[in-house]
Amino acid sequence: MNLKQMAGIEAAKYVTDGMIVGLGTGSTAKFMVDEIGRRVKEEGLSIIGVTTSKETERQAQALGIPLKSIDEVPYVDLTIDGADEISADFQGIKGGGAALLFEKVVATYSKKCIWIVDESKLVNKLGKFPLPVEVIPYGSQQLVQLFEEKGFAPVLRKTSAGEILVTDGGHYIIDLHLKEINDPIALGDYLDHLVGVVEHGLFLHIVSTVIVGGETGPRTINVPE
Ligand code: A5P
Repeated sequence: MNLKQMAGIEAAKYVTDGMIVGLGTGSTAKFMVDEIGRRVKEEGLSIIGVTTSKETERQAQALGIPLKSIDEVPYVDLTIDGADEISADFQGIKGGGAALLFEKVVATYSKKCIWIVDESKLVNKLGKFPLPVEVIPYGSQQLVQLFEEKGFAPVLRKTSAGEILVTDGGHYIIDLHLKEINDPIALGDYLDHLVGVVEHGLFLHIVSTVIVGGETGPRTINVPE
């Protein structure tokens, strides 16, 4: 079993009957959604899923997981999602799969968030992984220029076909190649106040449990409050 699959299957054990479950996006979350789908089918697990992307919605629908949108539920009991980097103090970067906006909306209304990763995602400081910033198309080149001036090494994300990538929300993504983020809170605050920025991939004080797939089995870290 690969390490992402191990973490995904372990996290699915936290899902119990009657829960409203946020279903994350990405290659690790995909294993978790598969496992929840298996439990729905084989064990009669009864849950409502809230997806964080069109991609996960398609997968969950195909597996027969009952779904509602985030606006049709009062809250989410538990969200399980992947992450691109997790620092020693449990702050995260997400959005490598371009789903950061919907992921952050669902996480915000969740009572508990579990991140599932392999060992490679655990870092001391955030920033080696490019930080995704979701922006509206109008004025996006101005933001690229501003980030350039700031020394953030911005790159407007393109698809493998070379087209500008458009997110599920109809926005663009500018990836900031920062190398090291010394103060994620201050950077998040700066980005939160820029006109045209819809959301960024700094997920701060959001995760409650991290499940790490490792060679010796899954490791569960409960984040201190
Ligand atoms: C999607 O936008 C992301 O936040 C993913 O959750 C993150 O990129 C982790 O993806 P993988 O599990 O594919 O590494």
